[in-house]
Amino acid sequence: MNLLINALDASTPGSNIGLRAVERENSVCLEVSDEGCGMDTHQIATVSQPFYTTKTTGTGLGLSVSHRLAEMNKAALEFYSQPGKGTQVVLRFNRESICEPDYRI
Ligand SMILES: Nc1ncnc2c1ncn2[C@@H]1O[C@H](COP(=O)(O)OP(=O)(O)OP(=O)(O)O)[C@@H](O)[C@H]1O
Ligand SMILES: [Mg+2]
Repeated sequence: MNLLINALDASTPGSNIGLRAVERENSVCLEVSDEGCGMDTHQIATVSQPFYTTKTTGTGLGLSVSHRLAEMNKAALEFYSQPGKGTQVVLRFNRESICEPDYRI
């Protein structure tokens, strides 16, 4: 949810936001992409630190909590971004870490 709100906050009206689930060779990924303001490499390295925010009403806790939740689920949170071009955030679950459901339909 925080990833989608961040994408919305970074975007201008009329631009696209993408949400998709994709299977890669060794992982399953949830990807949130936007065409918003983007981030430079320094900002990417900083965004998951608690209380880092560029918003007047932001707490700056969203991504630190997202990062912690990803860790607890043995997933990785990755950022691909360029200033002025947009951002893609990837929540990556390794296949070995994904539990098989204990039921079948
Ligand atoms: N998709 C994005 N595009 C551009 N900048 C982003 C994006 N996602 C996060 N950021 C930057 O990372 C900062 C930290 O994000 P985070 O979700 O931790 O806090 P926040 O969104 O500022 O506040 P809160 O989540 O409490 O509303 C944001 O303030 C913004 O500068
Ligand atoms: Mg946020």
